Amino acid sequence: MPLNIILIGPPGAGKGTQARKIEERYGAVQLSTGDMLRETIKGGGELGEDLKKILDSGQLVPDELMIEMISKRIQMPDCEHGFILDGFPRTVTQAKSLEKMLEDANKKLDAVIKIDVDEEDLVERITGRFTCGECGEGYHDIFKKPAKANVCDNCGAVDSFKRRSDDNEDAIRTRLKAYHGQTAPILPFYKEKGMLKTVDGRESMESVTAQIFTILDVEKAQNEAQAS
Ligand code: AP5
Repeated sequence: MPLNIILIGPPGAGKGTQARKIEERYGAVQLSTGDMLRETIKGGGELGEDLKKILDSGQLVPDELMIEMISKRIQMPDCEHGFILDGFPRTVTQAKSLEKMLEDANKKLDAVIKIDVDEEDLVERITGRFTCGECGEGYHDIFKKPAKANVCDNCGAVDSFKRRSDDNEDAIRTRLKAYHGQTAPILPFYKEKGMLKTVDGRESMESVTAQIFTILDVEKAQNEAQAS
């Protein structure tokens, strides 16, 4: 049975890191809105330029664009195996639209997992982050160094590591403000529905993964029991 999951957390909480682990174990596809936007920026044009300005400032992209992007994406065939929303919804409007688009697509949400991390750890995590430009594997200057300097452990690419242009202190502060002002207000929406689960994101990456797998194993078993 496919699992449809939302990962919520402030910038640097570990949503992308954990989404990749969930993808490996449960076969659900990672839908990172940040990655989708960065791909659009690479494509250039007026839209790409406008988006780059928004992302570099740390502010949120307008709801209409994000809703259209996700509503098309969740209808793609790979989402039949389940999906992990990493970065969506980020506003109350997006959360309400998601509910409607899932209903229209005859899909249901299985879990909303919030990753809790102390604010002072987030800046350290984000400023130390880098990723492989070839396969997207994430690394950190302190917490996850590649086994061989400048070589990706996952795909073997050499000298392909890159850092995000919004991973600087000014943009991080704006991103945190957007999280508290616009994203955190969606948490009561899911709490009322009894869907919100919280994991302690201050722990090691492996421990956070284990906490998430415990939650998802229960959801998966429930889905299988209902289907039989
Ligand atoms: P997005 O790309 O989604 O960025 P974000 O939410 O700020 O989250 P990050 O990718 O920075 O962090 P993460 O939680 O994935 O952490 P990671 O796993 O990398 O969005 C970027 C921008 O796009 C937004 O600012 C906005 O402008 C726009 N946008 C996107 N979606 C939108 C939407 N729906 N509506 C409007 N605008 C939207 O981990 C961080 C680092 O910490 C890594 O180096 C990792 O190795 C390390 N780490 C992870 N876990 C641990 C751990 N447990 N212990 C130690 N280190 C750890």
